[in-house]
Amino acid sequence: MCGIIGYTGKSDAKDIMLDALELLEYRGYDSAGIALLSKEGTQICKRAGRVKDLRDLCAQKNLVGSCGIGHTRWATHGGVCDENAHPHRFGKVTLIHNGIIENYRELVERYHLQGKLSSETDSEVVAAVLEHFYTGDPYSAIRRTVLKLKGTFALAILFDDQPEKIYAVRNVSPIVAAVTTDGAMLSSDVAAIVPFTADYFVMPEFHVVCLSKDGAQMFDLAGDHVEIEWLKVDWDVSRSSKGGYPFFMEKEIMEQPKVVGDTVLSRIRNGKPDFSKEGVPDHILADCQRICVIACGTAMHAGLVGKSLIQAMIGIHVDVVMASEFMYNDPVVDSDTLVIAISQSGETIDTLEALKFARKCGSPSISVVNVKGASIARASEYVIYTCAGPEIAVASTKAYTTQLAVLYLLTARMAMARGLWSEEETLGYMSELSRVPEVMEKVLSQKDEIHRLAGTIINARDVFMIGRGLDYSILLEGSLKLKEVSYIHSEAYASGELKHGTIALITEDTPVIAVVTQEKLKSKELSNIREVQSRGARVLLLIKEDEKLEDDKRFANVFRLPVMEDAFMVMPASITLQLIAYFVSLDKGLDVDKPRNLAKVVTVE
Ligand code: AGP
Repeated sequence: MCGIIGYTGKSDAKDIMLDALELLEYRGYDSAGIALLSKEGTQICKRAGRVKDLRDLCAQKNLVGSCGIGHTRWATHGGVCDENAHPHRFGKVTLIHNGIIENYRELVERYHLQGKLSSETDSEVVAAVLEHFYTGDPYSAIRRTVLKLKGTFALAILFDDQPEKIYAVRNVSPIVAAVTTDGAMLSSDVAAIVPFTADYFVMPEFHVVCLSKDGAQMFDLAGDHVEIEWLKVDWDVSRSSKGGYPFFMEKEIMEQPKVVGDTVLSRIRNGKPDFSKEGVPDHILADCQRICVIACGTAMHAGLVGKSLIQAMIGIHVDVVMASEFMYNDPVVDSDTLVIAISQSGETIDTLEALKFARKCGSPSISVVNVKGASIARASEYVIYTCAGPEIAVASTKAYTTQLAVLYLLTARMAMARGLWSEEETLGYMSELSRVPEVMEKVLSQKDEIHRLAGTIINARDVFMIGRGLDYSILLEGSLKLKEVSYIHSEAYASGELKHGTIALITEDTPVIAVVTQEKLKSKELSNIREVQSRGARVLLLIKEDEKLEDDKRFANVFRLPVMEDAFMVMPASITLQLIAYFVSLDKGLDVDKPRNLAKVVTVE
């Protein structure tokens, strides 16, 4: 959470940073600020509110300088107010911080900081400790400070008497850095760097990077020079713009046929799933006795679909564990358990910590990650990248369907590795998987009709979503999407479970969305729908287009999904639910891409 940016070079740092903060705003948007270091000293401009508010404030000030740091905040310690906005300054030190300093109270006492701080943040305490140790040698001050910190941090630091230089250090929270044509930059993620260069590096933990207009240098905490490992961004800058859509969420929903196609097609060889480029060996797919998927939010919902697929097709036990709960439930993972960590950002701290724990227990691991070189990718034994490209909207859409695509591929490869499928079965499954982009296009071509359907729930206070089996997994994600962007309370419920209490909440004012895509569950699902209709509920039904309904008049609305084999119906159904959530949010006039209180990348526990 929180976006950080630093630039030093020959250009005006203020404009570069404000533009970059807009690109990073999806990481947190409570408040924003910048600091500029110049011959005139250090100038800070910060405030609660969005980056556009900061831009207005900066326009009223005469800010000059070609070296600076900037921050967009998601509040952890201290409320949302101007004083708590970053950068924080103490003595000669000015810094921005992403992460949480767990021992900040001890540090306040240890360094007698009571009454000397002007904010409620843990971050200002770090500035004060740095100032305490600073005697003109930034490396020594950083080293000594870092050794006192407990928690997670990505810090970008200016020292008043170190002109044109930005220092950075991190633990867990990410920083990438780059050398541009006229200077150097650092950022929380490549989104802000890609307009300037495709070459970047991920800062290793507990290393100090110094950026100057001449480039970047890196040292370990012992002070020894360390070679930088360069990476290349493989998407172009246009992919992080809205491309004519009003919101990133719509653009990202519309991109799904392409990115799912890219994710799948690049991994088909001779009609079969192939992970040889990633180096994933068949034996880890063949030998494991169980699978444990760890992930959060949408990524966890993708895991639930994976569980249904793998249990049905491979016949081994799959647990899907919320990464934030993993450590607190005495996890039983061992060398026979293949751990699959799923994460768009690759930086979600709960998933990262759970993965590290599982690896210590001896579990082989594969991560499914979207952002290249992210911490989760680096912490796992094997990584399979989704080809979603930059996902900027806080609500995840294309990351989810590309994660599903990888899980479909993994299931098929696992079946091959275990000798479970004939050649014909494998080819048949893969050819159905290859149809997903075309089926998605069909749903997207009905955008206007889906928009109309969204209008039927826009005034609801609560929406229930019901289904069984795979349909229930689809709805868990559909319901999260609706809650997240429309602020309508919604619950996905396994329809057989309704009678055990929740049906009490169904009235004529409760729209119900039902998904019926699985032949083996259809009759039970349709009876469950009757039960809510008997309580007055208006039902929007999502069902295959070739399905005959005896009495479709009893449904308030029916949306027909293009037909695929049952196991793949997740794709057209999910994209429909994404669009419903999107249009409800849009028509309510909400900030679709930046729902309140959320942030795209969750790097605090
Ligand atoms: C979904 O729309 C959310 N933005 C959220 O649930 C997200 O999927 C979750 O925080 C996990 O993020 P990750 O995929 O980056 O790990």
